[in-house]
Amino acid sequence: MSNTRAACVIGWPARHSRSPKLHRYWIERYRIDGDYRVEEVTAQDFPAFIADLAGHGYVGANVTMPHKDAALKLPEPDARARAVGAANTLWLDNGRLRSTNTDVEGFIGALDTAAPGWHERTERAVVLGAGGASRAVVYGLIERGVKTIHVANRTFEKAAALRERFGPSVKPARWSDLPRLLDGTKLLANATSLGMKGQPDLAIDLSALADDCVVADVVYVPLKTGLLAAAERRGLRSSNGLDMLLHQAVRGFELWFGVRPEVTRELFELLAADIMKA
Ligand code: ATR
Repeated sequence: MSNTRAACVIGWPARHSRSPKLHRYWIERYRIDGDYRVEEVTAQDFPAFIADLAGHGYVGANVTMPHKDAALKLPEPDARARAVGAANTLWLDNGRLRSTNTDVEGFIGALDTAAPGWHERTERAVVLGAGGASRAVVYGLIERGVKTIHVANRTFEKAAALRERFGPSVKPARWSDLPRLLDGTKLLANATSLGMKGQPDLAIDLSALADDCVVADVVYVPLKTGLLAAAERRGLRSSNGLDMLLHQAVRGFELWFGVRPEVTRELFELLAADIMKA
């Protein structure tokens, strides 16, 4: 019998996922007897599939659309998945199916790379969006001690719900509040889908941001979003969505294969080339 450990990405559809490329890079680099595959599973079949993950040959999985809610509810979520209210990674913990959210460390890991020590000078941040990605971003900022987090969203009620979830450091805001909120801000994060290929642009004026502001975007297609291009023109440091994708993958790989992999420039270039080709 083979000793190969395997993980997969489960989605519907899932064949466009970039996770196989990135996990296989690490499997090769660390000479692991492992594999990472794509599993296209419908919402209807998802519960049965993950209930017998080992029977399907897997020690763990990434979970993408449309299974993110089910991934939180069906296995036993860890504290982080519960706090964020979303799970993207599954693993078998002594035979028990667990779920976690690795977007928090993805966002923070990318930010640490782009601007080491950012949290020491950031008392106040502005986050755009109030969906699942935003919850991971806001949770990460709170963990790192940012005291005031303005969450601006097209639908105000969803921003208000983040205050209910995370407490009074979250200040819900309307899109029209942005000019005032951006004034002097040292951290701006886009957690909406605006700026993504095929979506409308994120058109906001960055001129009032602090000169040492860091601008982060969770969108990674295109690599350099309109927001990051505008930040560059203003001479601001930026944290990109691809770095976030790579850093969020670290924890899953470690849980499944027992090695904490490094996010290298070479890996970034490999995935960047793939995105550019698309
Ligand atoms: P994810 O899980 O990736 O965060 P999501 O939960 O669908 O995805 O959230 C998408 C975010 O992008 C939301 O904040 C959404 O705003 P609404 O809550 O008002 O829907 C935001 N968004 C998407 N399209 C937008 C648009 N055209 N203008 C402004 N905000 C938009």
